[in-house]
Amino acid sequence: MASQNPFSPTFGASPLVLAGRDDILDDIDDALAVGPTHPDYTALFIGVRGAGKTAMLNAVEDLARQRGWLTISDTAAPAGLLERLANAAARLLSEHEPPPPARRLKKVAVSGVGSVEFQQVPEAERSHELRSLLAALGDRLADNETGLMITLDELQSGVLDEIREFGTVVQHVTRREGRPVAFAGAALPQIEDTMLSDDAATFLQRCSRRDIGRLDLPATRAAIAGPLEERGAAIDPRALEEAVAATSGYAFMIQLVGFHAWKAAHDPLSGITAEEVAIGIAEAEQRISRLVLAPTLRGLSNVDRRFLVAMARDDEASELATVAARLGVGVNYAGVYRRRLIKAGMIVPVGKGRVDFAHHAARAWLRDEPAYAAAVFPRVGAHSYPKVGDEQADHT
Ligand SMILES: Nc1ncnc2c1ncn2[C@@H]1O[C@H](COP(=O)(O)OP(=O)(O)O)[C@@H](O)[C@H]1O
Ligand SMILES: [Mg+2]
Repeated sequence: MASQNPFSPTFGASPLVLAGRDDILDDIDDALAVGPTHPDYTALFIGVRGAGKTAMLNAVEDLARQRGWLTISDTAAPAGLLERLANAAARLLSEHEPPPPARRLKKVAVSGVGSVEFQQVPEAERSHELRSLLAALGDRLADNETGLMITLDELQSGVLDEIREFGTVVQHVTRREGRPVAFAGAALPQIEDTMLSDDAATFLQRCSRRDIGRLDLPATRAAIAGPLEERGAAIDPRALEEAVAATSGYAFMIQLVGFHAWKAAHDPLSGITAEEVAIGIAEAEQRISRLVLAPTLRGLSNVDRRFLVAMARDDEASELATVAARLGVGVNYAGVYRRRLIKAGMIVPVGKGRVDFAHHAARAWLRDEPAYAAAVFPRVGAHSYPKVGDEQADHT
């Protein structure tokens, strides 16, 4: 249908054209062909909110299914991960003849503790159960020369002990015993300071780490022009460049700009004009502020927010030293916040000692007086900003 909008600005939705990720997907496809010795057999996608991690997990599952593999897909939170995975594995086993021997193992594990609730089943037993099930499923699939792909989203929100147990299980079943059980996980960059720095989570540390970053220019063009082409629509070449520039290659923004440009267009089939794209960009910038910037800002400390506001006084990229001076702090101190804000997806480094906003929309949005006051000092009136250096409200 010609009028159906080909863009999907929704978290977790797979885009019509998944642009710029062929290298990673090729490597993973290769890994599935080669087996557990391939470094990408267990992979970790790391990127900021809206970068396209969930879309990548979906794509990896598609790859696996195209090879005739089975898939288990879950998110790391809430608690109870091992139980959920064990249930999913048991279901797959029972669906794939012959009757699963591991079913018995599950009963043995449960009968050992009588009729108690799952919460009371010791961690070790749950992980033993999962290991038996995955081993049985892996053996069965190996006989058919296929395998099992497990994907876990939002790893940073998981329970560390559960992720650790899961890692031990997969490590045994896959790496040590060579069964075809592959893994792909997704996490926000903050995981580098939490789970990845925890020595016990060696499994995650050993996964190949793939950056889900911004798309480069050609990929961004493809991400916008591709879906239009699929609908038989066209776009003015200059307008396409405007749209591309407005997204900075950020996946969620690509979908927003595409979606709203399409919506603004009178007749996409005869060509989306520069004016229509401009309307789409303006609309997208409003939405990105609401959907990404505001929630991210809420999760930051006051000092981090103040750093951003100090940056917003510049019309382009900021010198770190200048921002530090505005805040009345040393450059080394400002460097700590710089690092955290990069991980939060709010700013990007540009050359030595300089940073810029990750989203064009952030500068104007932060300068906007009510938003600025509410964001920086949520419990204080708009005209009574605390002095810089008054840090008691910070949780840093
Ligand atoms: N490579 C890509 N090319 C074009 N659009 C993408 C790409 N990856 C993701 N998207 C789109 O970007 C948005 C955010 O993707 P999502 O996977 O939910 O991000 P994350 O899981 O990192 O928060 C979705 O609308 C999705 O369709
Ligand atoms: Mg996601």
